[in-house]
Amino acid sequence: MAKKPAKKSSSSAAKSAVAGLDPDAAAALALDVSRLSEKDAAQANAALQAAITEHNQRYHGHDAPTISDAVFDSLRRKDEEILARFPNLSSVAADEVGAAPSEKFAKIRHRAPMLSLDNAFTDEDVSDFVKSVRRFLGLAADAPLAFTAEPKIDGLSCSLRYEKGELISAATRGDGAVGEDVTANVKTIANRKGAVPHTLKGKDVPDICEVRGEIYFGHADFAEVNARQRAAGDKEFVNPRNAAAGSLRQLDASITASRPLRFFAYAWGEMSDMPAETQSGMIAAFTKWGLPTNPLTTRCETIEEMLAFYHRIETERASLGYDIDGIVYKVDRLDLQRRLGFVSRAPRWATAHKFPAERAMTVMEGIDIQVGRTGALTPVAKLKPVTVGGVVVRNATLHNEDFIKGIGGDGQPIRDGVDIRVGDTVVIQRAGDVIPQVVSVVLDHRPKDSKPFEFPTRCPACNSEAVRETGEAIRRCTGEFACPNQVVEHLRHFVSRRAFDIEGLGEKQIEFFYGDEDLPVRAPADIFTLAKRDQQNLKKLKDKEGFGETSARNLFAAIEQRRDISLERLIYALGVRHIGETTAIVLARAYGTWKAFEEACLKVAQGDETAKEEMDSLDQIGPTVIEAVAKYFGEPRNLKRIDDLIRELKVQDAEKPQTETPVAGKTVVFTGSLEKMTRDEAKAMAERLGAKVAGSVSRKTDIVVAGPGAGSKLAKAAEFGVQVMDEDGWLKLVGAA
Ligand code: IVH
Repeated sequence: MAKKPAKKSSSSAAKSAVAGLDPDAAAALALDVSRLSEKDAAQANAALQAAITEHNQRYHGHDAPTISDAVFDSLRRKDEEILARFPNLSSVAADEVGAAPSEKFAKIRHRAPMLSLDNAFTDEDVSDFVKSVRRFLGLAADAPLAFTAEPKIDGLSCSLRYEKGELISAATRGDGAVGEDVTANVKTIANRKGAVPHTLKGKDVPDICEVRGEIYFGHADFAEVNARQRAAGDKEFVNPRNAAAGSLRQLDASITASRPLRFFAYAWGEMSDMPAETQSGMIAAFTKWGLPTNPLTTRCETIEEMLAFYHRIETERASLGYDIDGIVYKVDRLDLQRRLGFVSRAPRWATAHKFPAERAMTVMEGIDIQVGRTGALTPVAKLKPVTVGGVVVRNATLHNEDFIKGIGGDGQPIRDGVDIRVGDTVVIQRAGDVIPQVVSVVLDHRPKDSKPFEFPTRCPACNSEAVRETGEAIRRCTGEFACPNQVVEHLRHFVSRRAFDIEGLGEKQIEFFYGDEDLPVRAPADIFTLAKRDQQNLKKLKDKEGFGETSARNLFAAIEQRRDISLERLIYALGVRHIGETTAIVLARAYGTWKAFEEACLKVAQGDETAKEEMDSLDQIGPTVIEAVAKYFGEPRNLKRIDDLIRELKVQDAEKPQTETPVAGKTVVFTGSLEKMTRDEAKAMAERLGAKVAGSVSRKTDIVVAGPGAGSKLAKAAEFGVQVMDEDGWLKLVGAA
């Protein structure tokens, strides 16, 4: 067995003399990997990764390297060697796309958030999208409304910042607010079709110009990269998108340089000046400035043209030379885009029309039952591995008990009532990043001795009874806090990306700590007490398999950092059923502080009607959420966990949408017909300015905006002495007249 790097031996002292290198990392460099135990490997891995991160920061972040490129490369090579032998150790080259910005890269806060798109799957969805845009803008069905249609590139998005025409930084999307600084990497995308210009050409280039687009691989280049990987004995990439992400997010930009990436520009962030008034005009300006844009982009005057474009590109898809997964439609006029604005993370003025999912056939070798956070038992098909759309699929969801039996959500037969059995040949489907699903059974291939699947009525994790409530498709474990799976899933949710997002504390580590006797994490607060008794726990942790001094320290530091948490993340992290990210934001903004939120929830749990009504009046919140809140806050064990947790945290009050506007915090009611904007638009505008829009007039109403034809609401306003104004008065008040 190899020895732990002995710090005081003369040979390691000599190694530590590698100029500018930490002694642990220098010692790790000297190790013979083929003879390492897993524990020593974990330690060396941690030391190497810490050094790689540090020196990468020095190089890219501060432009002040303290080791030579050759030494830096040897750190990476040694770490790769270790990871090849111990693939379970954490790897530097984070392979997750769209994850929170990695600690390994410097961060860039996007001046304007990087958003995603809503999806449409059918022609009808597209027609609904167009109708909703018209409705929002108050346009008649025959009023002109043009859209651009362009291929949706399957790569990773990137924001390029040009100042006075010079490329000064490039960032990945990250979580939409903060991305990773990949400037050095992006600068290597040069000298080929789809290159990123270092300088924009033309007299009308604005001083500040943030160009956004997709970084991707062409099919031929992807094949070549994989051939090289194969030849070098390195792992091949599963698809061009992963290859693009893996190639861009390299600590060593010379690796990126060796990978023939390309770029398409299709959007923008901060601009000090706008060269055009339409989407198509902007793309034309980008082209003129020397940026690569997609030549297929087309302006469509009607929905028929949009759909014709979609179906044409769908047939040409395989021969384009790069992966696309749909068509993006965008309202062409930018003034209309501005009026339409955003909902949550996606613009109202654009949608992605996805191509149909890809399908494949394979044998289902078994059915696993997974237990989720809310106790839901989900059947998962264990498949003979099969490639669907370039990705190897081993598991696919079977949804629920009825689905296996051949019964649909409405109680009617699906698949002609045919059930699904272990041993069956099944058709699976995979669309984008959605979990693959079983869609049908090939009865001809059914083994003679197969039997119908018997869905368990007890939880496979804790053996508690699993029950199905009337009208519910899902069977749930009743074990709650006694069910290890539910507790672990709760914890996993708690640390997930949109919740506490603690670097180095993922699903694997949560499972480890949950099962660990020395450093148990059984409730969210335990995560923070773990890091608090620092010295003692640190000592314990660094001797555990998979951790070393550095990773233990990093983990504790990451936990400490997260004691400071935003109210919306905290609310989402609690894992109350039906409170997703958007609902959490709505609640956080409405109540502002943890104290106010908790008080309201406790009142709701006690059946207080006023508190319920108040919550019910919030946008997007209805009886389902209120019932879930009542249930969660009515459970003493949840309250105890919350108390323990809050004691460990410093919760930041929610950002009120806008407080500096004349209508911030006011409750507004719109009534009668509006002429300059639609009701939806008026509502969105008021909310953007920090007002609350209500449907009926009460004593709490501050302003009634009344158009022609206003009736009883106007009378009520008079009764309560509420301020009344017309549409022009409102526009003047908010400064938009
Ligand atoms: S527009 C505010 N256009 O798709 C709208 N996105 O699913 C910003 N994408 O994050 C996006 N091709 O990475 C837009 N022609 C295109 C696109 C495109 C690919 C990606 C982009 C975005 C994701 C959303």
